[in-house]
Amino acid sequence: MSENIAMVNAAETRADEQVNARVRCILCGATPKRAELTFRCADCGELLEIFYPAWDDEARRPAATALKPLWRERKTSSCAQDQSGVWRFRELLPLTGADVVTLGEGNTPLYELPGCARSAGMERLQAKHQGMNPTGSFKDTGMTVALSAARRENYHWVACASTGNTSASMAAYAARAGMRSLVLIPDGYIAWGKLAQSLDYGALTCQLRTDFDGCLRVLSQLVTRYPVYLLNSLNPYRIEGQKTAAIELLEQLDWRVPDHVIVPGGNLGNSSALGKGFLELRELGLIGKLPRLSIVQAEGANALVRTLRETGGRQLVPVQAETMATAIRIGNPASWRKAVRILEATGGACEEVSEAEIAMAKAEIGADGVGCEPASAVTLAGLKKLVRSGFVQRSDSVVLVLTGHVLKDPEYTLKFHRGDLLAEAGDAGALEPHRRAPVILDADPDAVLRLLEQAATS
Ligand code: F0G
Repeated sequence: MSENIAMVNAAETRADEQVNARVRCILCGATPKRAELTFRCADCGELLEIFYPAWDDEARRPAATALKPLWRERKTSSCAQDQSGVWRFRELLPLTGADVVTLGEGNTPLYELPGCARSAGMERLQAKHQGMNPTGSFKDTGMTVALSAARRENYHWVACASTGNTSASMAAYAARAGMRSLVLIPDGYIAWGKLAQSLDYGALTCQLRTDFDGCLRVLSQLVTRYPVYLLNSLNPYRIEGQKTAAIELLEQLDWRVPDHVIVPGGNLGNSSALGKGFLELRELGLIGKLPRLSIVQAEGANALVRTLRETGGRQLVPVQAETMATAIRIGNPASWRKAVRILEATGGACEEVSEAEIAMAKAEIGADGVGCEPASAVTLAGLKKLVRSGFVQRSDSVVLVLTGHVLKDPEYTLKFHRGDLLAEAGDAGALEPHRRAPVILDADPDAVLRLLEQAATS
């Protein structure tokens, strides 16, 4: 560990926590001393966000010129917090110190997607793969911060409602911290990979006879009746952790701001978090402009699309959600107001894509050797539409945020390649060239050779 890093780390341990982090209601601006158990404003019921009053004071705000080299230097340190792609950026986080529970999250790759670029009509396309986190989704970047906050407050139990990834992540971090975790998931609508994770990590797992929105409703009532700490993205500590993906992305791009960043939208915590990250980087002078942050939803779970279209973003239009991209099967997104503000602040677009478009995009991302789960593929499907509408230009720099690992939902992938996924859909024919069904043969080299020769000439 270099002397510089050792000095900074020692100073932090003394200061322990960023006592300067406060919560504020995003609607009425109230700044309560403590967040309510439900993480909603006691006065108006809206969500809270974390802010850093010290940043208003020139002398006390983190110095942009010092942060960039410090963050880069930490990559060579052997300290666990420096090796985390979240805690490496702790000058912009609400807590640090001995309570931190880390699995070495973040540090996710930025990939080129040449095949997808061609198919979208772009000169170049990149993807930041948040599915390469320890439990296979972007949730880990937020979970490490929020679960650390729960531990600091001496909670024994943590809980979340989930479409599968939050629960997998929460269960893992709780296990690492020696805490108990309660998972509420919609019965029959989460991918097996995610359910399996939550069981393996030892969560008390309840499959409720409802959808995600119903699970979240039950949990919001539960937290007022039993001491469980809520770890959904309503929790502003989750958002603080997730915003570090924006910082890490800019660092990977040598601080050159891309024209567009495109994310999937479900409960709308992640889009809000990335947007908050970009806005803070600009506020602190680490970047001079913002990327346009666009959000893509599945047609069957398009609450934000309808909210913007039908009310100009003023009032949520909830929907009865239905999509095979189960991670974003959400009709009543909690962070809708935060997301609307980020779209407005960055000049981003909001798109919806069909089930066939998602399936095709997922296969194309796979064919570039990257792969992702269905919900992540909405980004490529949405990009194609944004290129067609002229919102994105062919020569623009674009980064897709892939949120979940390809192995999260193998059932979807197998059904797609076997031709069972969208069998009845009218446009299923367009998907045919992307299918790679497994071939069953006798154990005979000649049979394999014939197939190989056929494939080589096709
Ligand atoms: N992509 C994946 C893979 C997800 O798991 C989720 C959300 C999203 C995108 C949407 O992110 O909700 O922040 O807008 N999954 C949550 C869960 C809801 O419970 O795992 P969002």
